Amino acid sequence: MWDKKHFLSIHDLTGEDVKNVIDRGLDLKRRHHGGTLEPLLANKSMAMVLRKPSLRTRMSFEMGMVGLGGHALYIADKEIKMGQREAVCDVARVMSRYVDVIMIRTFAQREIEDLAEYASVPVINALSDLYHPCQVMGDVMTVVEHKGKIEGLKVVFLGDGNNVANSWMNAAARLDFHLVLTMVKGFEPDAKLLERAKGEGARIDIVYDVPEAVKDADVLYTDVWASMGQEKEAKRRNQTMKHLQVNDDVLGLAKDDVIVMHCLPAHRGLEITDSVMDGKHSVVYDEAENRMHIQRAVIVELLGK
Ligand code: CP
Ligand code: NVA
Repeated sequence: MWDKKHFLSIHDLTGEDVKNVIDRGLDLKRRHHGGTLEPLLANKSMAMVLRKPSLRTRMSFEMGMVGLGGHALYIADKEIKMGQREAVCDVARVMSRYVDVIMIRTFAQREIEDLAEYASVPVINALSDLYHPCQVMGDVMTVVEHKGKIEGLKVVFLGDGNNVANSWMNAAARLDFHLVLTMVKGFEPDAKLLERAKGEGARIDIVYDVPEAVKDADVLYTDVWASMGQEKEAKRRNQTMKHLQVNDDVLGLAKDDVIVMHCLPAHRGLEITDSVMDGKHSVVYDEAENRMHIQRAVIVELLGK
C-alpha cells in the first residue's frame, strides 16, 4: 500500500509507486480475463461525482468496483451543486460517512484538493482542467502491455498542452522515457509544471516542427484540441492546430511498429483520421479498457487491499 492517502496527481507518487500500480493493473487485467478476480472490494463503496460529461470514466469506475465485489454510486452535480448548495468541506465530510472512496471529475484542481483535505476517505482525481492522472496511468500501462516497457521509448504528444499533456509530463518525471510535445505556440502545457518536471529529471522537449517531432516515435499520442469547458474556443483551436492531425503521413514518419494512442472521445477527421484510428497501429480501445484495470489497482492500493 502506498503512503498517499489520495490519488490527485501522478506527481504525488514515486516512480516505484507508479511501476507497482501498473504491475498490479496488468495482473488485475489478466485475472479479469482469466476469471480469477477475487472480491477485493467486497462491501466497499465509491461515490462518483462528475461535473463534466463522461463515458469511459463513469463506466470504468463503476464496472471496476462491481467486478471486485464493491458498489459505485453516481451522483449528478445538479443534485449536490457542490460549492453552491453546500460547501465542499461539508460534502466531503458527509460523503465520508457513507462511502469508502470518492471519485471526482471537475474543473478546478483546487476543488479536488479541497475535497481531499476534508474527506476522511481517499479521493481520486477523475479529471480536472489541470490533470487526468487515471488516464495517463492507464496509458502507461497500455504502452507497457504493447511494448514490454516504457523506459527508453520516445512518446510524442501532438496537440493541445492540456490536462492529459500535463499528466504525461508528471509521468515523465517519474519514469525514464523521452516525452516530445509538438504543439502550437501559445498552447504549450503549463510552464511551471514543465520546469518542475525537467527539474526532477524528466526528458521533455517541445518541438514545433511536426516531422522533426514525430521522427522515430515509438508512441504517437493525441487528444482533442478543445477540452471540456473550452467549447466556445473550438472553432479557433481546430483551425490553429490542424497541422497537428495524426494522419497516414504523420504515421509514416514514426517507427514501423509505432502505436497510436488517444484518450478518447476522439473527433475523427480533426486531431485523428479514421484511417489511423481504425488502423493496425491504433491501441485506443485497449487504452479505454485499461482505465478499468488501472483504476482497480489504484483503489485497492488506496484501500490497502
Ligand atoms: N478518456 C476519458 O476520460 O473519457 P470520458 O471523458 O468519456 O470519461
Ligand atoms: N483533454 C480532454 C480529455 C477528455 C478525456 C478534456 O479535458 O476534455
